[in-house]
Amino acid sequence: MGEQVMEKGYMPWEALLQEFGIRSVGTHKVFFQRFQEGIENLEFLYRSIYGDLSEFEDVFEELLKSIIVAYLEREQDLKKRDKAKEKQGNWFLSNHLVGMSLYVDRFAGNLSGVRKKLDYFEELGVNFLHLMPLFESPEGESDGGYAVSNFRKVDPRFGDLKDLIELRKNIHAQGMNLMLDIVLNHTSHRHSWAEKAKSGNKHYQDYFYMYDNRWIPNQYEAAMPEIFPESSPGNFTWCEECQKWVMTVFHHYQWDLNYRNPHVLREMLDNVFFYANLGVDLLRIDAPAFIWKETGTSSQNLPQAHQLLQLIKQAVHIATPGMVLLGEAIVAPDAIMEYFGKGDRAGKECDFAYNATQMALQWDMLATGDTRVMLQAQPIIGQKPFGTSWISYIRCHDDIGLGYDDYMIAQAGKDPYQHRSYLKDYFSGKFPGSPAIGALFSSNPKTGDARISGSLASLCGLEQALLTQGSDKIQESIQKILLMESFSMFLGGLPMLYYGDELGYLNDYSFLKDPSKSYDNRWMHRPKIDWDKAAQRDQEGTVENRVFSGIQKLIKIRKSLPAIADLNNISWIQPHNIHVAGFLRQTENQKVFVIGNYSNQASYLTWYAFKEFGFTPASLFDHWTGDSIPVGPDHDYLILEPYGFRILEVKD
Ligand code: GLC
Repeated sequence: MGEQVMEKGYMPWEALLQEFGIRSVGTHKVFFQRFQEGIENLEFLYRSIYGDLSEFEDVFEELLKSIIVAYLEREQDLKKRDKAKEKQGNWFLSNHLVGMSLYVDRFAGNLSGVRKKLDYFEELGVNFLHLMPLFESPEGESDGGYAVSNFRKVDPRFGDLKDLIELRKNIHAQGMNLMLDIVLNHTSHRHSWAEKAKSGNKHYQDYFYMYDNRWIPNQYEAAMPEIFPESSPGNFTWCEECQKWVMTVFHHYQWDLNYRNPHVLREMLDNVFFYANLGVDLLRIDAPAFIWKETGTSSQNLPQAHQLLQLIKQAVHIATPGMVLLGEAIVAPDAIMEYFGKGDRAGKECDFAYNATQMALQWDMLATGDTRVMLQAQPIIGQKPFGTSWISYIRCHDDIGLGYDDYMIAQAGKDPYQHRSYLKDYFSGKFPGSPAIGALFSSNPKTGDARISGSLASLCGLEQALLTQGSDKIQESIQKILLMESFSMFLGGLPMLYYGDELGYLNDYSFLKDPSKSYDNRWMHRPKIDWDKAAQRDQEGTVENRVFSGIQKLIKIRKSLPAIADLNNISWIQPHNIHVAGFLRQTENQKVFVIGNYSNQASYLTWYAFKEFGFTPASLFDHWTGDSIPVGPDHDYLILEPYGFRILEVKD
């Protein structure tokens, strides 16, 4: 049978296109060209993953049909949008874009509630909305929506598909963009595929990693780390209904999909296209590091995971090119870089990755007042291929992992073990005198690893300052918040604010009373927005007002400076003072220095630091304070107040 199929081969792609009425001339000419340009790569990637399968030809043809159908089903207005983006070229690198991630229900009740808040985003300057998972997910076993039981049905808590489409249309009409998630690695155990697998259906059992006994699971376990060691230890769960072990890398109710099965890829690619055709501008691929498993390895970041992502990218580029991809790979620094594609594949995988290394190092600098570990990471971060970009952030719905390498700590002259212990103690508030109030997440006594939960404001000391210490400390913590946001806003990439942070939200401890959340302290930084409290942003001098207007101002400045577009044009200032981090962003017509003091004391930076880039500025205009500052002689200093920062444009 296999040989027969091989002889038959699959239909030549031109003939296949013709079956759908697509030719090299006429209405679909441009699609035809994209198909022609991409088919070889597509086949190469597909063959690298599935080439050994006897059914290779059939499944590949099915995949091509999915691509064609996705294109044909794409609405005219989205095709127009695709064209406009292509014309603009690298549209997503722009300094005009600023994003926010939010939970629809906790932000505004439901989807129509969010629609009514579009003016709020406009007021702040946000024009890229990441709506956290919206598709059906069982109450109590939802992982914040990342355990999906139906990829195409909006969870009734948020509204329905019509509400989502209406919101998207409003978002686009206001000149904004939409980002949604696809949870590629797993489904809820309540997804119909999982339900059928439970009831003994072999076809669907092959969608998952299922085993009759512990023989293979034990081989996997030997090399796989645990993701949620406290709440969901191990990587397999016993399924009583079908009497099998099923792979569950995250929670026991999240079943890992088996991409060795080509039908899984095709079905999930159809879901990718479903989101594309809803009008998504940026698709966040959840947990891509995990999508291929192999015994004897950590089952993370494997070559096949990258091939699958490249294949998805190529397919999306052919069918729905206006949608770009974000790989949510929160892994070691050099492993993150691989999600952009490597070598001759650079720029051919994900368009975006999270700059998780920089995010964690921002927290490192804040806790230590020392910028040296952060600087050690820059040679790696700086390798991002041109035309790709970062999601730049300091907080999101997840924990903060200290995932950068030990050698970076060691090269900065510190002991990695002690350094990490200090950071954990500092942010969990255990270290004497620490202003932070946070908590450790997923502590693993076997490895000593732990990550950090807590809201931006509470980790910056605002919660403690409000409780005990009065106005100086309140001001200091607001200054820290703005310092952290300023780096995120100007470093390069699409800054993604996290809802509530713009109003200085503190930790929310109500999750402890809810049994469906109490096992997961990430809920302490997933607040419910109180719109009466939010209204205080208009009242001069309130915390809400000071944080909101500060972030609003940073956004305005970002949008006014073309050099801040993500053109891979960053150079770090030499470390003349370990407390001060600074970088230059430059284009042919503009040069901007951003400087930040991570110490709780005033810091001095020699003016010489501004003269090491092949030019000597005479004066600098500070967009933050509005002052023009003459550049002094080398033996003199720019003085920065505690946690102060400057956004300095070179004037001549
Ligand atoms: C991603 C999400 C996280 C979730 C996990 C499993 O890392 O950001 O919230 O728990 O994937 O889906």
